[in-house]
Amino acid sequence: MTDESLPHPGTPPADCALCPRLATYRAEQQARHAGWWNAPVPPLGDANAWLAIVGLAPGLKGANRTGKPFHGDEAGKMLFGTLAELGLASETPAGWDAPGLFITNAVACAPPGNLPETAEKQNCRSFLVEQLAALPQLKVVVALGETAHQAAIKAIGGKLPKYRFGHGVTHKLPSGVMLVDSYHCSRLNTNTGLLTPEMFKAALESTLAFRA
Ligand code: URA
Repeated sequence: MTDESLPHPGTPPADCALCPRLATYRAEQQARHAGWWNAPVPPLGDANAWLAIVGLAPGLKGANRTGKPFHGDEAGKMLFGTLAELGLASETPAGWDAPGLFITNAVACAPPGNLPETAEKQNCRSFLVEQLAALPQLKVVVALGETAHQAAIKAIGGKLPKYRFGHGVTHKLPSGVMLVDSYHCSRLNTNTGLLTPEMFKAALESTLAFRA
C-alpha cells in the first residue's frame, strides 16, 4: 500500500539549486506566472509500478505549469491517450490515473527551449536513480527519446555503447529490466511525422509482453 502523502524517493526539493541556469529560469517563471507550479516536477505514479515511462523534461506550459509530468500539453495528451487505448490509463477529474505505472523525466525542471544541457542531465541523474531503485516490481522502462534512453541506462545500470537508441527497439539490461525505446511524443516529432500514433502505440504495446 502506498502512502500518497509522502513524496516518492528521489523527489527533488522544491528549491533545488543543483543547476543554476534552471533555477534562474524557474525564478523567472515564478515572477511571470505566479499560479504555475514552477518547481522541479515530482514523479507521478505507483510505488508498485511494473512500468516506468521516462520523458525528457517538463514542458514549460505543461508539467511546469501543472506540476505533474505530461499533464497540460500535447505530449501528455498523446502519451495518456495512447496508454488509455491500451487500457493502461483512464482520465479522472483529478487528472490521469495509471495504476501500475510510474511517470517521470530525465530532468525534473523545465529547461529553456526544452533543451537541458549535459551538466543538467548529469545533475538530475541521482534523482532518477533513487526513483527507479524504489520500484521493487519494475519490469520495463520506456524511454521517450535518446536523452531518456541514456538517463535510464545510466540510472538502472548498463554500458551505454552496448545499447543503441532506436524507435521500437527493446534492450535487456543487466539487472533484467527491459528498456523499450520510443521517439519522444513531442508535438515537433508528431507534426513532422517522425512519430505517428501507430508507431507510438506499437512501442508502448510491446511493453505488455514483459508485464507478467
Ligand atoms: N512533459 C513532460 O513532463 N515531459 C516531457 O518530456 C514532455 C512533456
